Amino acid sequence: MKNIIKLSALLGLTIASAPAQTYNALWIPPTLTGTNFNLSLHQTNKQFFPGLNTPTFAYNSGNVWGPTLIMNKGDTVQIYLTNNLNQTTTTHWHGFHIPGIMDGGPHEVIPAGTTWTPTFTILNGASTYWYHPHLHPATQNQLSYGAGGMIIVQDAQEASLPLPRTYGVDDIPLALTSRRFTTNGSNAIVVTNNCAYGDYQLVNGTINAQITLPQQYVRLRLLNAEIERAYNLGFSDNRTFYVIATDGGLANAPIPVTRVSLAVGERVQVLVNLGTTAVGSSINLMAYNTAASLGGAGRTGLQFAYPGGEPSSSGQFGSLLNNQNYNILNLKVGSATTNPITSLPTTLTNNTYWTSNDVSNTRVINITGGNPPNGVFTFDNVAFSMNVINQTLNLNAIEKWVVINNSAFSHSFHIHDIQFNLVSRTSPAGGLNAYEQGWKDTLYTQQNSTNVFIAKFDTFASYYNPFMYHCHFSDHEDQGTMGQFLVVNNSVEDLAIASFTRHGPNGDIALQFKATPGTTYKLQYSKNMDSSSWSDIGTVTSNGISANFTDTDPTRLAQPRGFYRVTIPVNSY
Ligand code: C2O
Ligand code: CU
Repeated sequence: MKNIIKLSALLGLTIASAPAQTYNALWIPPTLTGTNFNLSLHQTNKQFFPGLNTPTFAYNSGNVWGPTLIMNKGDTVQIYLTNNLNQTTTTHWHGFHIPGIMDGGPHEVIPAGTTWTPTFTILNGASTYWYHPHLHPATQNQLSYGAGGMIIVQDAQEASLPLPRTYGVDDIPLALTSRRFTTNGSNAIVVTNNCAYGDYQLVNGTINAQITLPQQYVRLRLLNAEIERAYNLGFSDNRTFYVIATDGGLANAPIPVTRVSLAVGERVQVLVNLGTTAVGSSINLMAYNTAASLGGAGRTGLQFAYPGGEPSSSGQFGSLLNNQNYNILNLKVGSATTNPITSLPTTLTNNTYWTSNDVSNTRVINITGGNPPNGVFTFDNVAFSMNVINQTLNLNAIEKWVVINNSAFSHSFHIHDIQFNLVSRTSPAGGLNAYEQGWKDTLYTQQNSTNVFIAKFDTFASYYNPFMYHCHFSDHEDQGTMGQFLVVNNSVEDLAIASFTRHGPNGDIALQFKATPGTTYKLQYSKNMDSSSWSDIGTVTSNGISANFTDTDPTRLAQPRGFYRVTIPVNSY
C-alpha cells in the first residue's frame, strides 16, 4: 500500500501536503425522492485540501457531485434540470431504458440559463444508476469538475428481500473517482481535459475517506465514475464479500468474491459482513491495481497497464496512483443497529435472458485506432459525427453485439437504451467473471478481447432521436470513440386505417386511423399493395385518439386503384 501525500505541481508550485493518516468523514449525498425532481447544475467551490478552494461543479446544494435520486420502478417521473453554469451541458440518465429524446445524450443540449424538463417512466429493475453530463466533446471537462450523481431504483422484488436498505447507515453509495490538482495562489485547481488518471482518490468527492458502519451486513453501491481508471476492488484482510447486483438489476443469488473489477461506468452492489469484525477496528476497501491484477499474462507495456493505468507517474496518462495497491475507503466498525441484517439471502431473483436462439441479427463493432503518436480510438475506423447514424435497428429486435477490441488499449464499452446480458468474452485476461453475468449496460473490453452480448431493443423507436454507444473513458468519448444508433419501428400492424371515405366518384379520399395524442404519423401511397416502394404523401399530427388525413391529389384520385398506409410515427418521441 502506498500513501499519496504530495499534490502534483504542474505549474511548478508546491503546496502543503495533506496529512496522510488523517481521515475525512465520507460525504453521503442527500437524497431526493418522489416523482418530481429539481436539479440545478452550478459552479461552486470545495476545499479538498484545508484552506485551498477548488472550483467545482455540483447539482443542487452540495459543493461537488449531486444528490442521490431515489426512484421507483413503474413511476413516471418529471425532472426539472436547470443549467446554472455559464456553458451548455446535457444530463444523461446512465442505464435507463427511456426514449432517445429523454436520454440526455449529446443531442439534448441544455443551454446556459435554461431548464430541461424530461419526463419518463421508470422501466428498469432495482439497481444503481447515475446521471452525468454528456455534452460532446466536453464530457471529460464537466465530469472532471465533479458533475454527476447516483440514482437508486427500487422495485417490489428488491423490497421483498432481507437486505440492508437504510441509506447512509447500512446501504452506502460509493462513487469512486480520482483527480489531479495543481496550484494557483490559494486555490487547488482540478486538472481537466489533460488528465486521464488522478493522483488523489475520491469517494463521493471525499479525499482519505472514512465511514463508520454498523457491526452487521452492510450494502455498498459501488460506481466507477472515473475518467479512465478501472478498479480491482477488495478488502485489506482479503475477506470474502458478495455481489448482489450488476449495472441494471439483481443477481440471481449472492456471488462470493474476494476481488471485483469495476471499469468506468460500471456499478456493482456488494454485501459485506461486518458482524464478526470487532467494534472499533477497521478494514480498508482497496484498489488492488498493480498491473498484473487484470492484465494479460505475459503482456508488457501499455497493454499491461489497464486498469491501473500506464507505468508513468506523471503526464496526461500517468498518475501517482497508477499501478498501485492503495486504500480507497477506511471502514470503521461501530455498534450494530436495532434491526440488523445478520445473514445472507440465498436467492435474490430469477433473471431470464435472451439466448443465441432468440437472436435475429448479429452486429460486429470493432474498436479501432489509438496507435501512437496521435491516434484516436474509433469504432470501425469511422470518426464520430453528430450527424451520422452508425447503426439502425428494428424495434423489438433481439440482437447479438460482438465487440472486438484490437486497438492499442483496453476500454469500457457502454450502450444506451437497453440492458444486455454478456454471453462470452475471449481475452488474454480470461473469460467472463460470474459477477458480470447479470443485466449490464457497460462492459470491460481488455485489449485483444472479443465480447459478446445479447439485448432486446424494445419499447422506444424514433427516426430522429438516436441513442449512443461509446467508450466510457470520457477522454476517448470526447475524441470520438462513439457511435449512434436508431431503433426504428417499421411495423404497420397496429396502425391500420380504420375508416375510408370517398367524397364522390373522383372526389377526395378521407382516411381515419387510431392514434396516440400528440404523435405525428406519416401517410404513404402505392398503386400496388405489395409494392416495395411506397411514396410519402403527407404527415398528420393527431390531437386525439384518432387522426384524419384527406387526400386531395388529382393524379392519385384519378387512378382506378390505389393503396394507402399509415407507416410509422414519424417521431414517436
Ligand atoms: Cu454514462 Cu453515454 O454514458
Ligand atoms: Cu476507450
